[in-house]
Amino acid sequence: MNITKAIIPAAGLGTRFLPATKSTPKEMLPIFNKPAIQHVVEEGVKSGIKNFTIVTSKAKKTIEDHFDLNLELEYKLQEKKMLSYISSLSKVLKAASFSYVRQGEPLGLGHAIWKARHNIGKEYVSIFLPDDIIDSNIPGMAQLIKVATLEKCSVIAVREVPEDQISNYGVIQVRKQFSPNLFQIKELVEKPNKTNAPSNLAIFGRYVLSSKIFESLDELKTGSNGEMQLTDAIQNMILSGEKVFAYRIQGDKYDIGRPLGLLKASINFALKHPDYRDEIKEYLLKIDKDFIIMQGQLEQLNKNKRAVL
Ligand code: G1P
Repeated sequence: MNITKAIIPAAGLGTRFLPATKSTPKEMLPIFNKPAIQHVVEEGVKSGIKNFTIVTSKAKKTIEDHFDLNLELEYKLQEKKMLSYISSLSKVLKAASFSYVRQGEPLGLGHAIWKARHNIGKEYVSIFLPDDIIDSNIPGMAQLIKVATLEKCSVIAVREVPEDQISNYGVIQVRKQFSPNLFQIKELVEKPNKTNAPSNLAIFGRYVLSSKIFESLDELKTGSNGEMQLTDAIQNMILSGEKVFAYRIQGDKYDIGRPLGLLKASINFALKHPDYRDEIKEYLLKIDKDFIIMQGQLEQLNKNKRAVL
């Protein structure tokens, strides 16, 4: 299966990150020293993707500027022998092309994907949700493409999620388990209550879907949250007889749609950067030590207080 096209929905408002996202797209917030969306695109390029359609909305212009040549900047960096600062981006720009589609109205993830339909055609398409970041030896999307090629069907990435967080995700019900990490899906539910969640396997934002998804999206009605849900469109594909698999994706996963997730991902990538690893380790050890000292002092203070009573 030759999967070379990807859709990246990037039209959301990023309200959880306000005020940082008032005039900066949340996809451009840095994970350590690289915009989040570049991490996603690099994963795609390493997985064989050559053509990205990014679904945007107004105030997202800097995403287009980022994935474009800036000859003036390159010239200056060359003069200062600093071209290596943008080498990761130059690699991506050589390997892939980028097109942009506006979502127009914020009608949900299903609607955003549907808007990109004219760029795809009758082939399997990969979808990357840029709030989900994976750090793995085999790129996340390459893992899914391998399964899709072997099984000749659509595949969705899943991961286990604690019960108290399950209502933030799309959740699968398993029809059949083929190996520890591979399942056929019976049903999908978008953001169920923890009491009626069909499992603890939540959708992680990577999909390989057959072009049937666009027919399903054509028919889609409004679902949970008053939005058109991609999850419901996939569920309708299953109801119409399509086989859809789920794969428990392997690697360190970060939900960077939340500030703490973004911070954790930043620390992870800083610790892996050869130029910064030692300094960040030293810093983390120092704050850990300071924290222990502070805790000891607090305990002592509380003891003293009780002694007076
Ligand atoms: C979306 C999907 C959901 C999936 C989640 C993964 O939800 O609708 O099924 O589990 O991404 O991050 P959102 O986070 O956009 O609400």
